[in-house]
Amino acid sequence: MCGIVGYIGSKPGKDIILRGLEALEYRGYDSAGIALLDGEKSQVFKRIGRVNGLVQEVEDKAGNAGLAIGHTRWATHGGVTVANAHPQMNSDHSIFVVHNGIIENFSELRQKLEGAGYQFESETDTEVVPQLIDYYLKQLPSFTAAFEAALNDVRGAYSIVAISTREPETLYAARLSSPLVIGVGEHENFLASDPSAIMEHTKKVIYLEDYDVAVITKDTVDVHNLKEDKHISPKVELLDYENKQALLGDYPNFMLKEIFEAPAAIRSATLGRAVAEQNVVKLGGLESVLGQLKYIDRIVIVAMGTSYYAGLVAEYLIESLADIPVEVQLASEFNYREEPFSRSTALLAISQSGETADTIAALKKVEDYGVLRLGIVNAVGSTIARMTDAGVYCHAGPEKAVASTKAFVAQVTVLLQVALCLNDGRSKRFKPLIEELNKLPAKAQVILDQADAIKTIAENYADYRDFLFIGRHTGFPAALEGALKVKEISYLHAEGYAAGEMKHGPLAMIDEHFPTFAIATDSPLLEKTYSNIQEIKARKGPVLALATEGNEAIKELCSDVIYIPDTAPETQPILQVIVMQLFAYYIAIKRGNDVDRPRNLAKSVTVE
Ligand code: G6P
Repeated sequence: MCGIVGYIGSKPGKDIILRGLEALEYRGYDSAGIALLDGEKSQVFKRIGRVNGLVQEVEDKAGNAGLAIGHTRWATHGGVTVANAHPQMNSDHSIFVVHNGIIENFSELRQKLEGAGYQFESETDTEVVPQLIDYYLKQLPSFTAAFEAALNDVRGAYSIVAISTREPETLYAARLSSPLVIGVGEHENFLASDPSAIMEHTKKVIYLEDYDVAVITKDTVDVHNLKEDKHISPKVELLDYENKQALLGDYPNFMLKEIFEAPAAIRSATLGRAVAEQNVVKLGGLESVLGQLKYIDRIVIVAMGTSYYAGLVAEYLIESLADIPVEVQLASEFNYREEPFSRSTALLAISQSGETADTIAALKKVEDYGVLRLGIVNAVGSTIARMTDAGVYCHAGPEKAVASTKAFVAQVTVLLQVALCLNDGRSKRFKPLIEELNKLPAKAQVILDQADAIKTIAENYADYRDFLFIGRHTGFPAALEGALKVKEISYLHAEGYAAGEMKHGPLAMIDEHFPTFAIATDSPLLEKTYSNIQEIKARKGPVLALATEGNEAIKELCSDVIYIPDTAPETQPILQVIVMQLFAYYIAIKRGNDVDRPRNLAKSVTVE
């Protein structure tokens, strides 16, 4: 969603901020802005639309100030207007603030400030922050004291960065439930909501924790925790990030690049973990809790979006392989449910970014229950990775396109290994599955080699308005994920259904204008899916089937067939989803959509 970059040093801050904002574009946003401070001289540039709309103006008009902040905004409070873009300012434009998150009590604070004579220029919740700092500056001795007093009044979730003409040598930053990282340089320091915005300048980072307030000059970083009211010695960590993976290379967009990284994602997710020669699954991140895991008799999985569907696949895998009951919940629902939660239940959060607000809130909800909190996370060092007791990284590398692709592939690959790890070699499936995981990258490549054929088929479906995706067993969550991909990037109506549900409603929608994508790969349930396809055909619905190589008979039943290599039932959803990612991708491209940045969506949903 929104993105923050900050810089203090002696280089031209505008260049660093613009590069940083470009690096954050993938998160989704609708306006962008920059504030620059050179001594008491300030400049602000704000634009609706893409960062590149801002570049020319900044390059033409901005000076070489060494103190700068920038922001990409994804509208929540107030429409997409220049006035609502950040930085937001106090009335005399001496304090500049960028903010990610939501200030829940902003209308109450705004009323209070309006009562004290303050006038507002925007509809945002953020504007109360510079005004509040201004308000407290009149009563308190220092900017830091006024900044902290303002933060004490604010309820909600935030990462906030402030600068002021009154303190032109300092960056002020604060974090509560929204990520913020300081990049440590030589006589310069950086700030960002996501390390990818600053990693080209420094690999040394300090992750701020909840309630931390940082006062940053070009040579110092001073952190004070508001809740504990104590100074913190900041821990400098080294970013473990592969720069080249964040670059586009020869691909036309990140989504295609990331779909094509599926074989590499499976390889990285299994490397040194599922070792066929030794017949073991070693998940280093779980080793410290292996003893505790023996006493776990229920797992609750929480996640959102694509990660939620990876969780639904895991439900089948963990229950059948490890014999532990699993319940999967959307984190946004879990957070407001009252349910019994015993100590022998583990909470498992799945998240690509590790920054999804609802998933973080779910982990916080059980903080005092004394239960084991596990994470399956892709982004190294992210909030969820740091707040869980143990977990496994997906190692898919940075994912930039808004619609998740390779991360799903890596998540299911990791979750299958978690199931095997919990199974501890007891099941007959243990060895064959480890061997199959080792063969899977090559099988994923076979699918990618058919991309042109999938493109041709997808383009024939690009003019339909509605799609149904059906599947059984793990094919059911895979169908949900396929439908989500179409919705996200094609803006077309698509629904995922368990094939067995057809007669309970969806069949009523079927006619010649409503195609079905039927997951019909080899399984003991295949005959039942054939019956569903027959029912659809009888109502003139076009059917595109996804079948296992060698199934010639299915061609008689369906309008089109795409084949995947034969694989174990447990690994099928991984291959099925790659096909559906390509299918959705080519439809969206044919319709002329921006696949990397679909309208109204954000990569990382950091507010509720
Ligand atoms: C957003 C993204 C999705 C993602 C979901 C959950 O909606 O656009 O691609 O699946 O958030 O994100 P997470 O980072 O927690 O997996």
